Amino acid sequence: MPQHVRGVIAPGRNEPVRVETIVVPDPGPGEAVVAIQACGVCHTDLHYKQGGINDEFPFLLGHEAAGIVESVGAGVTDVAPGDYVILNWRAVCGQCRACRRGRPWYCFDTHNAKQRMTLLDGTELSPALGIGAFAEKTLVAAGQCTKVDPAVAPEIAGLLGCGVMAGIGAAINTGNVSRGDTVAVIGCGGVGDAAIVGARLAGAAKVIAVDIDERKLAKAKEMGATDTVDSREGDPVEAIRALTGGFGADVVIEAVGRPETYRQAFYARDLAGTVVLVGVPTPEMRLELPLLDVFGRGGALKSSWYGDCLPSRDFPMLIDLHRQGRIDLGAFVTETISLDEIEKAFARMHEGDVLRSVVVL
Ligand code: APR
Ligand code: ZN
Ligand code: ZN
Repeated sequence: MPQHVRGVIAPGRNEPVRVETIVVPDPGPGEAVVAIQACGVCHTDLHYKQGGINDEFPFLLGHEAAGIVESVGAGVTDVAPGDYVILNWRAVCGQCRACRRGRPWYCFDTHNAKQRMTLLDGTELSPALGIGAFAEKTLVAAGQCTKVDPAVAPEIAGLLGCGVMAGIGAAINTGNVSRGDTVAVIGCGGVGDAAIVGARLAGAAKVIAVDIDERKLAKAKEMGATDTVDSREGDPVEAIRALTGGFGADVVIEAVGRPETYRQAFYARDLAGTVVLVGVPTPEMRLELPLLDVFGRGGALKSSWYGDCLPSRDFPMLIDLHRQGRIDLGAFVTETISLDEIEKAFARMHEGDVLRSVVVL
């Protein structure tokens, strides 16, 4: 039987979001209905509302979530009703060239759920990133669910579904940070702070946090940065070199997504170092570099896609590390809010003291 639940939709470009009754169908083959317990508010939800992702309004927002599997469709064996799961927005196929070559984060054929949730009048909803978890229940592909230890609270576990995983993965998966490395993180929002946590977890000896907001730098220190650089006080590339014996960092993680910080990341690395780009630029942005600098600097320039994560490997591992007290994912939760307060959370995103607002249902 289709169910009626409360969910938050973005009705049209730049229109305020609102709570509506949505219709969640029974799970079809390969699908699961999940009762959402918590869902973080991410910049991407705001981009959907602003029309910056695509024009397929109305959207059912929310994609950084944890909950309990309520029912599964035919052929689902990996998860069962009652399982506590974190949702991911890239259910990989396991069959394509990228999957077979061990790079599933570049899967050509992702299997998210088909868009089948509607408003009461039958209007089809586009679930944000194929999830739509600002709702009491949502319909996903079973491959979007990863079972984890229920001892960790949903407002914490859900964060691994997007930004925190992107940042930790940028350090441990894409950057391959190793023990003793020096790491610089440019931009210390939620993603950059997660990269700091990942760098520490991987055994970095020095973690340099770079930002233009002293509150972010203070928070970055709490998250494990050993040194801070305020870019407003001078060239951060010089400051990073000075902190690394003149060499530059072994791994530089860019978590802003702007030309000037891409440039800083390029020059702040040791000649043989790695640059990890996790900040997402906009289509019109350009970066001009002397080719001799591109040629003359070895190392690697990499972008990080969802932290190059493998949910089935990384979600349970990070949940276990949190449960053991070896990382503190709870430090990313600034506030918990209700479904009716998402517009307020969007407004607060730009205030500088929020890492994550998390909706608890
Ligand atoms: N130099 C250094 N830091 C900067 C600069 C700059 N020129 N400009 C902005 N920042 C800092 C901000 O002060 C803030 O602390 O970058 C941080 C960005 O953080 P958030 O806006 O909270 O964004 P976050 O959620 O962390 O995402 C960062 O990663 O995945 C991507 O799409 C995401 O592009 C975004 C980036
Ligand atoms: Zn694939
Ligand atoms: Zn997100």
